[in-house]
Amino acid sequence: FQPVASVVAWCGVESSRLAYDPYDPDVNADPFPVYARLRAESPLYHNPERGFWALSRHADVSAALADSARCSSDHGPMLDRGAWGPQARAYLSFVAMDPPDHTRMRAIVARGFTARRVAALEPMIRAIARGYVARAVEKGSFDFAQELSARIPLDVISELMGVPPSDRAGVRRRSAPLTGRSEDGAGGPGAMTERGPGAMTEEAVRDLLSLGGYYASIVAERRTAPRDDLVSVLVADGGLSDEEIVAFMFLLVGAGSETTTHLLNAAWYWAWRDPAQRAAAFGGAVVPWMEETLRFDTPAHGTARRLTEPTELYGTLLPAGTRMWLLIGSANRDERVFASPDSYDLTRDTSRAISFGAGRHHCLGAPLARLEARVTLEELVRAVDPDYDVDPGGIVRTAHANVQGMVRLPTRVKP
Ligand code: HEM
Repeated sequence: FQPVASVVAWCGVESSRLAYDPYDPDVNADPFPVYARLRAESPLYHNPERGFWALSRHADVSAALADSARCSSDHGPMLDRGAWGPQARAYLSFVAMDPPDHTRMRAIVARGFTARRVAALEPMIRAIARGYVARAVEKGSFDFAQELSARIPLDVISELMGVPPSDRAGVRRRSAPLTGRSEDGAGGPGAMTERGPGAMTEEAVRDLLSLGGYYASIVAERRTAPRDDLVSVLVADGGLSDEEIVAFMFLLVGAGSETTTHLLNAAWYWAWRDPAQRAAAFGGAVVPWMEETLRFDTPAHGTARRLTEPTELYGTLLPAGTRMWLLIGSANRDERVFASPDSYDLTRDTSRAISFGAGRHHCLGAPLARLEARVTLEELVRAVDPDYDVDPGGIVRTAHANVQGMVRLPTRVKP
């Protein structure tokens, strides 16, 4: 990508008093003011304690995502400085690979995510969403995050992978170390994401190993008796080993559940905060509701890369091996691209938002995520009075660098 070499010393990388630590709970509570300062004062920001350099402007983040030769994914997208190392592949599959491995695996897996296959999932997704919405409306008061938005994406992925309903609670519990979600919904830093697998509790390691064993048993079953699910498609292809399929199943749970959950939570919350936007959303603008939420309060705030060669950025020469932190959440609020970026406006053009990343690693599940979110929001609009309530005092947010959002969102609805 083309670094802007002319903007130099005033970026004051080392001397700036601007402090940005993505693991700081105060930053996590509302990172956008810090992002605005990063973009204005320090578009290349160094955090020596955490060992990363952050890019926050839309042009820079997009360019880095597009330049996968210079910006390697081989240590995975987590901010943590390579604690994953060679283990990244076992849990993160091809999101932690470069070509040619990435190209080979993604091409095989993409066959399970064609537009036709994804569109065919709509009736299944609608049935799942309708069930959860009906139960919520019946209760009246419920936790939107725990009882609705966290359930739907996990059920959809379980359907895709062929995990029967009776096993889903167990999968949810054992996958918590991957997603940074604790079972009681209290959130907290994901052990896997902040400190790497070495820092996990023994119980978390046991959970992941047992989940891996469970996934391996599904793969073995499909080898003898294929069904109409994604794992059967991958097994039938013949190009992937059992270990590769299991790693991909881990990736699906990690990448595909928490993100979609946070999108739904944010849509629900921001529409509640702004009655005019809520009226538009409930008046038929469901797709703009989803797209503007993706831009305004994007679930995947950042992704990491490792420089493969010395690179000059903003007058600073960064050596090969430098850990780069690409702030998608900030790029989507860049005033150079979006007018009044801090206003939540369903009428705006969101086509330049990069919520699903860009380049080789552009989210494979984006069409599925959009389908799930649209269908769930449509079901809510159909069943719920627009005059719903949220209890802001009961909201709990995740303290997680990569994927951010709410894990508790108490709400009250009327039919
Ligand atoms: C990759 C965001 C939902 C599967 C990514 C990346 C982003 C992202 C930003 C790029 C990571 C990087 O470049 O390092 C999101 C958001 C979602 C979402 C915001 C929901 C709103 C899903 C779903 C699935 C999924 C539902 C599948 C069921 C994947 C996979 C990759 C990926 C497999 C890796 C692609 C590759 O490395 O080639 N996602 N995602 N995502 N996502 Fe998603």
